[in-house]
Amino acid sequence: MSIKVNENYKNLAQNYLFKTIAEKVSAYTQANPDKKIIRLGIGDVTLPLTPSVIEAMHKAVDEMGHQETFKGYGSEAGYDFAIDAVRNHYEKSGVILKKNEVFISDGAKSDCGNITDIFGDNEILIPDPVYPVYLDSNVMCGRKVQFIAANQENGFLPLPDAIEKKSYIIYICSPNNPTGAVYNKEQLKQWVDFANESESVIIFDSAYEAFIHGDYPHSIFEIEGSRTCAIEICSLSKTAGFTGTRMGWTIVPEELVCSGTALNPMWNRRQSTKFNGTAYIIQRGGQAALSEEGFKECQENIAYYMENAKLIASALDEKGIWYTGGISSPYIWLKCPNNMSSWEFFDYLLNELQIVGTPGCGFGPQGEGYFRLTSFGSREATLEAIERMKKGL
Ligand code: MLT
Repeated sequence: MSIKVNENYKNLAQNYLFKTIAEKVSAYTQANPDKKIIRLGIGDVTLPLTPSVIEAMHKAVDEMGHQETFKGYGSEAGYDFAIDAVRNHYEKSGVILKKNEVFISDGAKSDCGNITDIFGDNEILIPDPVYPVYLDSNVMCGRKVQFIAANQENGFLPLPDAIEKKSYIIYICSPNNPTGAVYNKEQLKQWVDFANESESVIIFDSAYEAFIHGDYPHSIFEIEGSRTCAIEICSLSKTAGFTGTRMGWTIVPEELVCSGTALNPMWNRRQSTKFNGTAYIIQRGGQAALSEEGFKECQENIAYYMENAKLIASALDEKGIWYTGGISSPYIWLKCPNNMSSWEFFDYLLNELQIVGTPGCGFGPQGEGYFRLTSFGSREATLEAIERMKKGL
């Protein structure tokens, strides 16, 4: 066959991180069917959808079953009710968004990958370690990627002071996946100033904003000057337990202009060509999750997960294992004991304690020697994992 393929795929790691882990776990389970595995690897929620969401989606299902209320294609950017629910959510942090600046999607992962469509061949600046989708999606389109180290020395919060002042697409995830580090206002302002001065664009991933504890920005748009240099991508996956339900959004401010072209109409053009909108039923669920009552329910679930994080942290304290995170994020980022590499520790936990975590090196080279545990397990599973770790580490 002489059809050419996208050669950039050859530059990717063989597998997506979480797929590699799933394959290793599946091989272990097949070889050891009697062992009970505890999964604290991928950040997948375990609590069910909240009552408000379920009620809204049931109602929406019924609407779809009646001629008078049935819905076909909706707007690619989302229904007004969902867009307004997002806008109200931002208003709580003092951020005012216009209707046409909010694009409802099926989650942050898709938009993190899709956003590359509207950019040309720019240099990409990615913190290391971070959510692997930023790197992989840029490698897929042949972009040149530069890492900026996030390490214990800088509190896993790299700043632009040491960066050459030129144009980049800069990815920022705060609270950070995997380290749990969260930028304060002054630090984010440094990034916004850098972006405006260097004519860069920040892609801000706020998927974990609902976990913030303390006085930290929930959105890049809380920072003065951000409307001319930032796009924000967010999701209900972790906030409302939508990992299997799928709803998120992307915000592209009207003022964001690159090389004389406004990005908002470009993203609109991209979405209306390649996306037919998030399902009506799901958008009704998302609206309910962001309502006053619905969000309270989400916060109760978040509190449950954060209690898990506390329990994991106290077990690590007891073992004298260094860690960070778990306060404004559902992830605990720990240093592998006994100088083990990330994958050595992964294998040890899987083979000896039947606990699945995520090797830090999967989030970037600086993550080598670190490891991520998620607090999204059930309380029962988390407690059992803690007991196993107390005995086995
Ligand atoms: C993670 O574990 O890092 C996340 O669940 C992955 C994702 O949100 O796609």
